[in-house]
Amino acid sequence: MNRLENKKIVVTGASSGFGEAIALACAQEGADVALVARRADKLEALANRIRSMGRTAIVCPCDVGEQAQIEATVAAARTGLGRIDVLVNNAGMNVSHRRIDATTTEEWDQIINVNLTSAWLFTKIVMPEMVERRDGTIVNIGSKAANYPSLLAGVAYSASKLGMHALTRVTNEEGNPHMVRACTINPGVGATPILDLRPKPPSAEDRAKMMQAEDVAMTVVFAASLPQRANVERIDLYPTDVSVG
Ligand SMILES: NC(=O)c1ccc[n+]([C@@H]2O[C@H](COP(=O)([O-])OP(=O)(O)OC[C@H]3O[C@@H](n4cnc5c(N)ncnc54)[C@H](OP(=O)(O)O)[C@@H]3O)[C@@H](O)[C@H]2O)c1
Repeated sequence: MNRLENKKIVVTGASSGFGEAIALACAQEGADVALVARRADKLEALANRIRSMGRTAIVCPCDVGEQAQIEATVAAARTGLGRIDVLVNNAGMNVSHRRIDATTTEEWDQIINVNLTSAWLFTKIVMPEMVERRDGTIVNIGSKAANYPSLLAGVAYSASKLGMHALTRVTNEEGNPHMVRACTINPGVGATPILDLRPKPPSAEDRAKMMQAEDVAMTVVFAASLPQRANVERIDLYPTDVSVG
């Protein structure tokens, strides 16, 4: 029996890295998925792979920094999937500037908007149907930077990921009485394109030692497939080889 048989799952940031692997792993476990990101061509390619596995995949091109686009995306996902059982708030970004003095107001606003505000908005729009059905799981992709804010991750990025803890806690406070649950997964460094924006991007050798996107995807499947009576609120998922950060 597949662990997510016939679950309807929305994955943001599905065009690359963790999100792409999460959508694929969910489909491999029997889920139908709505794929959300800006790059429609990448989403189409992933959707075709998922459809060839016999599952439904809906392509939802969306800039999660825009409220109207989030609203349209959730409406399209509901139409295409019928309902939303699991929401994975994974879309995220960083900029090259990491220091307080170098970060511009525009960069700060963009990071908070894309990494944190979008997760709150998706939650706000999706949660009522979960509450009504007394079933639903929201997975927020945080970061090790939430537990250890740092210059390496940057001031705005660290702040945005710390905010995910608050969002998850309050989602549980509101949702748990209605059997809706939320989990933050805090990955340490993983080999995805987001690392290209580091002031000094890691070498190919170091990337090979890091966690891979599939590792995060397996963890999302675990959290989403536990019986609804059990809720893991937070998972810290770090590379075993500490030399990579
Ligand atoms: N890799 C790591 O070391 C690491 C560690 C801890 C946490 N994380 C978190 O994991 C999540 C996934 O990151 P990743 O490592 O997989 O990086 P990635 O490969 O760069 O993927 C980022 C994803 O977010 C999407 N995205 C970015 N801005 C968006 C916007 N305005 N609207 C819609 N989608 C947007 C991108 O899609 P489009 O560009 O197509 O829009 C892409 O699919 C992020 O939240 C990141 O902060 C990563």
